[in-house]
Amino acid sequence: MSEKKLSFTHRFIPATDPTITETLLLLHGTGGNENDLLGLGSRLRPGAALLSPRGKVLENGMPRFFRRLAEGVFDVEDLKKQTHALAEFVAEAAQAYGLDEHNITAVGYSNGANIAGGLLLLRPETLAAAALLRPMVPLLPEKQPDLKGKEILILSGRSDPIATPTETARLVKLFSDAGAAVKAHTKPGGHQLSEEDIRAAEAWFASRSTKAESVSKR
Ligand code: MLT
Repeated sequence: MSEKKLSFTHRFIPATDPTITETLLLLHGTGGNENDLLGLGSRLRPGAALLSPRGKVLENGMPRFFRRLAEGVFDVEDLKKQTHALAEFVAEAAQAYGLDEHNITAVGYSNGANIAGGLLLLRPETLAAAALLRPMVPLLPEKQPDLKGKEILILSGRSDPIATPTETARLVKLFSDAGAAVKAHTKPGGHQLSEEDIRAAEAWFASRSTKAESVSKR
């Protein structure tokens, strides 16, 4: 299937396993693009549909999902605006490609993990679950969202200077207080992903894949 013209430049890979109704929403890091995480997505959930937008903000030519004022200092107004735009894109893509809009799992790395966090906090209806790789606290919402029933994986690096262990602990608390089922692992290493992270994410997907199907069949 070729991609349709929607509000974000994106790649869409249809499901190759017709029994899987979960779609992975792949969100790249700063300087990445819509092709970056396709391999990771098919490794984490073989046979699932993959929806992979490119962030619309350019920082010195590098695509991102929202503006920042400095490293780790976010332009919160832009983050809110872009979070809503991404939520609209996901709804639009679900309609265009015939996806189950109640069974979308984000897989985000770094800046992509941060906008996935924005979706969970501001537009929680967009995601059923999320695997956040090297995330930070994107913003503090005015109203606590209801994240009951949502499963969230958070993978951090012990010596990550950007998404620090303290930052990760705040994020785990924010999501847990809102009712999400959070699993968090801190691995040796920094901001870059390692094979160990990917194996931890694979294990999380394997542990929840049966559940994901039964949720979608209700
Ligand atoms: C961000 O801006 O989202 C974080 O600093 C991570 C990054 O993109 O480097």
